[in-house]
Amino acid sequence: MLPRTHCGDFTVMHIGQTVRLNGWTQTNRDHGGVVFLDVRDRSGLVQVVVHPDTAEIHKLAHAMRQQDVIEVVGEVIARSEEAVNPKLPTGEIEIKATEIVILNSAETPPFMVEDDCDTSEQIRLEYRYLDLRRPKMQRLMELRHRVTHAARNYLDSQSFLEIETPILNKSTPEGARDYLVPSRVYPGSFFALPQSPQIFKQLLMVAGMDRYYQIARCFRDEDLRADRQPEFTQVDIELSFANQDEVMAVAEGLLRAMFDAGVGIRLPEEFPRITYHEAMDKYGLDRPDVRFDLEHVNITELMKKVEFKVFRDPADKGGLVKVMRVPGGASSLSRKQIDDYTKFVSIYGARGLAWIKVNDKSDLPGGLQSPIVKFLPEEILAEMLEACSAENGDLLFFGAGDTTVVNDALGHLRVKLGQDLGLVAENDHRFVWVVDFPMFAWNADEKRPEALHHPFTAPSAEDLDKLESDPLNICSQAYDLVWNGTEIGGGSIRIHNPETQARVFKVLGISDEEADAKFGFLVNALKYGAPPHGGLAFGLDRVLSLMAGVDSIRDVIAFPKTQKAADPMSDAPSEVADEQWKELGLRKRPTIKES
Ligand code: AMO
Ligand code: AMP
Repeated sequence: MLPRTHCGDFTVMHIGQTVRLNGWTQTNRDHGGVVFLDVRDRSGLVQVVVHPDTAEIHKLAHAMRQQDVIEVVGEVIARSEEAVNPKLPTGEIEIKATEIVILNSAETPPFMVEDDCDTSEQIRLEYRYLDLRRPKMQRLMELRHRVTHAARNYLDSQSFLEIETPILNKSTPEGARDYLVPSRVYPGSFFALPQSPQIFKQLLMVAGMDRYYQIARCFRDEDLRADRQPEFTQVDIELSFANQDEVMAVAEGLLRAMFDAGVGIRLPEEFPRITYHEAMDKYGLDRPDVRFDLEHVNITELMKKVEFKVFRDPADKGGLVKVMRVPGGASSLSRKQIDDYTKFVSIYGARGLAWIKVNDKSDLPGGLQSPIVKFLPEEILAEMLEACSAENGDLLFFGAGDTTVVNDALGHLRVKLGQDLGLVAENDHRFVWVVDFPMFAWNADEKRPEALHHPFTAPSAEDLDKLESDPLNICSQAYDLVWNGTEIGGGSIRIHNPETQARVFKVLGISDEEADAKFGFLVNALKYGAPPHGGLAFGLDRVLSLMAGVDSIRDVIAFPKTQKAADPMSDAPSEVADEQWKELGLRKRPTIKES
């Protein structure tokens, strides 16, 4: 039997050869008796011609249906000059069929198996196997393969061992809700699916594995967004005897290898770094999109001098007042848009969005147009304009209130303005490390500090003595990598000293008993010669979706879940038989009838 040639591989070099190909029929067209079939497989598409003089296969070709699976034997011939299709890689040739076999016939698919299909995502996911047959999705799966393959090669070249960690676990505290699996053997007990391999990779360092990696599946039961899935993949690494700079250098090398293999883009030798505080000051978010300016300026001190309560109160009471200058915004933004932005910031809890149009800064206050100018003295207005380097024609937006709310509101407004005003140049990719994260954040509901990363993150060495006395003002050795405003990876140097770990648990309000019950095995392991270690995990799906320029991470996952964490194809999650409930020692809650 002839070896198979893939549809997309045919070139003029094959002219005159007898070949065999396999694939799915895309179309069949009858041009005055000659039938043309477009046949596609993963490699591409080729045109097959069937002449009426080969009566039997001509009849077959005529009756062929979209997506029938076929085998063709024929001769590669040159297309006539006017029939050459320069858009198609195989457009200079066609296959003159001598034999055709229908290997399997297909029912009419629920949507066209083409790149341009405008069916809903729900239907695409319900028939994902057909959706994945579309060339675009096949390219995305190839991209994913190339990138994970490159990650493996790179990490292998750096002496990392690929080690699998368990899926049925005790819960790791990454901050999201766990997916739980009931144990049949221990009725009433549950496994948790891993939110990440965090604890196990640390144990592997204690075990002397030195450098570990895993393309690891993680599970988090959290509210979903375009860049979140309940089940996602991390490129997860951990290194012993490495400091923060060394971990970041390996991570940069890894990402460089992934980009090179994925999209042929050479990334910069070193990525810029910004501290958490600088990111919050300038951009209001800890994942700053640094492709455009619109930087924030803190005017809290200045606002302590004004009567205007909206600004004065937060300034006096430990809150924040910030201004964001939009160059040229005085003419480019209408009142309606300003009103819309006011509504937009209210999503983040902002009580309003004060603004000033700078028409003529040499004429104060008359040259300023704004509902708040009348509340602010002239010299303060002058200082304010100076502080944010305002120019005539600019629009200034103000946020005042609780620090978190103001940063959140103006931070997201900045991103929205960047998009709305077209400030983001296409193909501009910016990476930035965010470093020096605070160790803890205040959990107002539970009235206690909580870990900003996870409780195994090491405090910065110089802050160690302030762990108990001033926990909210100490830095951790954690770092995030941000790409165009999306967090694509994060990690930290870990605590390797059991006493420090115990102190951190104490600050977090985790009692010795609770620590022992939840992660006693890790704390114990730290007592048996744990090396200094640290690591990081990239969100593979996020990296891929950004590389491919697709809107949702679902497009780079073969079988993703919907926004509602379900699979419309298999109908998971689904009910299980009463027998299974019983076996697991579980009882259904009686349905409470509404009166
Ligand atoms: P973290 O929780 O920051 O760190 O996760 C690492 C990266 O994983 C990606 N990610 C997600 N991607 C898709 N859907 C989700 N629901 C989702 N959640 C997170 C993000 C994120 O940057 N164990 C630590 C890593 C470490 O310290 O080494 C961890 O899991 O891109
Ligand atoms: P008010 O005194 O509430 O009418 O507000 C006067 C102006 O200040 C309006 O333009 C409001 O949008 C704006 N404003 C009110 N509260 C805030 C706030 N917390 N931050 C920023 N601007 C505000």
